Amino acid sequence: MSILLIGGSPAATSSTGRLLDHVGEKLALHGHRYSKLQVRDLPPQALLHADTSDLAIKRALAAVAAADAVVIATPVYKASFTGILKAFLDLLPQDGLAGKLVLPLATGGSQSHMLALDYALRPVLHALDARHVLTSVYATSQQLVWVEGSGLALDQAISWRVQAGVEALAAGLNALSGRIGDSYVVQAEPVRLAS
Ligand SMILES: Cc1cc2nc3c(=O)[nH]c(=O)nc-3n(C[C@H](O)[C@H](O)[C@H](O)COP(=O)(O)O)c2cc1C
Repeated sequence: MSILLIGGSPAATSSTGRLLDHVGEKLALHGHRYSKLQVRDLPPQALLHADTSDLAIKRALAAVAAADAVVIATPVYKASFTGILKAFLDLLPQDGLAGKLVLPLATGGSQSHMLALDYALRPVLHALDARHVLTSVYATSQQLVWVEGSGLALDQAISWRVQAGVEALAAGLNALSGRIGDSYVVQAEPVRLAS
């Protein structure tokens, strides 16, 4: 079973990206392989022009199509998910998430927009025919502290929510594969966008 992590932050140094990496590491501990796609690494012109003939866009869409589960992470921008993430999701076919499990993650500046994932992103994921959208995980910047040398420190409440999300995803994948208890080769590699 394969998992694709999709990062929707335009920022190169990103709290959302760190949270996504943390989830990837947890999934690896469960023995699941994953690959990672940062939307900001796609060619901007092709992304904005919806140029699905572009090689990097083609590869990104193929990576989504090949995944059994997708973890989608976004910062909250202006009370919603980011524009670059929407530009990418708009390139997927109407049933682009059919049969897939989806775990949504978001980071925000405060608790004010903690429902953004549920009122803004979740309907889009369902419109793309996601099989099952798991309970989303929302963390504020204050709950995610980057410690130089030792990495991401999570507030206890977020740590539990992340753990619950990862376990739900792992259980869903095991149920999908019908091979509960199997172990998989762990592989964390970026999706190759350009030749
Ligand atoms: C353009 C912009 C808009 C933002 N809008 C909101 C918002 O509406 N609500 C909120 O809680 N945080 C908002 N924030 C704060 C970010 O969601 C927060 O800092 C987040 O952790 C940034 O993630 P990143 O480091 O991955 O970019 C905004 C930040 C930026 C740069």
